[in-house]
Amino acid sequence: MLRNTLFTTSRAMLARQARPATASIAIRAMSQTSSVAAHNHALSHADVDADPKTLDIIDKHAKYTLTTYGRPAVVFTHGKGSYLYDVGHREYLDFTAGIAVNALGHSDPEVARILFDQAKQVVHLSNLYYNVPAGELAEQLIEGTRASGDFNASKIFFSNSGTEANEGALKFARKVAKLTAKPGQENNKFGVVSFNNGFHGRSMGALSATPNPKYQKPFLPLVPGFAHAPYNDVEAVDQYVTEETCAVIVEPIQGEGGINVASEAFLKKLRSRCDEVGALLIYDEIQCGLGRTGKLWAHQHFSKECTPDILTMAKPLANGFPIGAIMITDKVAEKIAIGDHGTTFGGNPLGCAVASSVLRRINNPEFLDNVNQTGEHFKEQLESIQSPLIKEIRAKGMILGMEFKVDPSPLVALARERGLLIITAANNTVRFVPALNISKAEIDQGITILKQAIGAFEDRVMDVEA
Ligand SMILES: Cc1ncc(COP(=O)(O)O)c(C=O)c1O
Repeated sequence: MLRNTLFTTSRAMLARQARPATASIAIRAMSQTSSVAAHNHALSHADVDADPKTLDIIDKHAKYTLTTYGRPAVVFTHGKGSYLYDVGHREYLDFTAGIAVNALGHSDPEVARILFDQAKQVVHLSNLYYNVPAGELAEQLIEGTRASGDFNASKIFFSNSGTEANEGALKFARKVAKLTAKPGQENNKFGVVSFNNGFHGRSMGALSATPNPKYQKPFLPLVPGFAHAPYNDVEAVDQYVTEETCAVIVEPIQGEGGINVASEAFLKKLRSRCDEVGALLIYDEIQCGLGRTGKLWAHQHFSKECTPDILTMAKPLANGFPIGAIMITDKVAEKIAIGDHGTTFGGNPLGCAVASSVLRRINNPEFLDNVNQTGEHFKEQLESIQSPLIKEIRAKGMILGMEFKVDPSPLVALARERGLLIITAANNTVRFVPALNISKAEIDQGITILKQAIGAFEDRVMDVEA
C-alpha cells in the first residue's frame, strides 16, 4: 500500500513538473490527502512537504519565466560546501555541484571575498580596454598548462560560457582552414566531425555538433558541414575525417553522454588523422577538465600523441561565476586577426579575478592528489552497492557514472526526497559530479542515502513489472 502510494505520488509529481503552471495547486491538493501525508513522514525531504513560500515562488516562475526545464518543487536559498538549503531550511547533500561547476563547493569564502573586492574596483570594461585580471588569468592558464607537460598552448580567448567557447573554437577552425587549405579547396574545407553522445552546447554551431535528435530536431536545418561519427571507433575515423574536414571536436570524457572515457587508441588516431588532412583537433573539456579527473586536463591521462590544437573550458573555472575560455596553439593564434571574433562580457575583470583564484587552488598538486583519492573512494563506495538494476560503473576521478539496466530518471526524485541531489546523463546513467573538495565522510553519507533510494527504486520497478 505504501509502495503504491509512493508510486502514485511520484507520478503526480512528474506530471506536475511537466506543467509547472499548476504546480502549487497540485502540491497543495496532495498535501491535503491524508494517506500521502502519512507516507511523507517517512521521507525526510518530501516534495509535498515543501514550505508554502516554495509554492509561491514556483507560481511566480510559472507565470513569468519560460519553461524549458522540468524542475522539482524545491527552491534553494543558499549553500555551504557540499550542502544546499531550501526555503524550508531543509539540508541537501549535493552530488551535482551545479552540473560540475562548483568545484570548490557552495559559497566558498575566498570566492566571495574576491567577488566583493574586485566589484569594488571594477566589474566590467568591455574588450575595448586592457584589464589586469584577464591578463593574469590567461598567463596562469597557459603557463599552468605548459608546466603540466602538455600541448603547446599559446593564447587564450575568454567567453562567458561553454557553448560560446565551442562556438568560437569552431569559428577559429573554419578560418584556419580557409587560410591553410590546398589551392582550390578554400571553400570546401569547412566540415566538422563530432561524435555520437557528445554534448557541446545549444547555439546553432555547438548544437550542430551535438547529435542528439531531442536537442536538434525542433531547430532544423542546422549549420551545414557537420558529420557525427561513432565515439571510440578507431576504424571509422578515416571515413568521417576527410580532406574537407576543418575540425574534429570531441570530449575526452563524455559527460552528458553517460560518462564515456575515450580510449588512447581513439584519441591518437584522431590526432594523426587531423594532421594528415590538415584539420584542427578540438578537445571540449568543459565538463571533464580543470581538475575533475585529478589532473588539470582530462586528456593529460593520455600520451602526448593525443594533444589538441584547441581546448575549450568553462563550468568550474570561476566556481559558478559565468566564464568560459578557448585555449589555442600558435598554429591557430597566428591565423586569427583583429575583428575576427568578439564578445562584450568575455574577459571581464570580475570573472577573471575569481577564476584566477579558483585556478590557483585547483591546479595545485595536493588538491589534485586529493581529487584522485576521494574519486577512488567514491568509486569504491558506488561499487559496494548491490542491486540487480545496476549495469556498470564508469569513472575517472570525480566524474562518475552508474549505468542502470532501466531508465534511472525516477531515482533522482527518490534520492532528493531523502536529501541527496543527483542527476542523470544519457544511456540510463546516473551522473555524480560533486564539488572536488567534498570529504570522504560526505561521500559516505550520500552513498547511504543513495542505497536507500536505489532500494526504493527496485521496489518501484518490481511493482511495475508485477
Ligand atoms: C562537454 C560540454 N560542452 C559544452 C557545454 C555547454 O556549456 P554551457 O552550458 O556553459 O554553455 C556543456 C554543458 O553541459 C558540456 O558539458
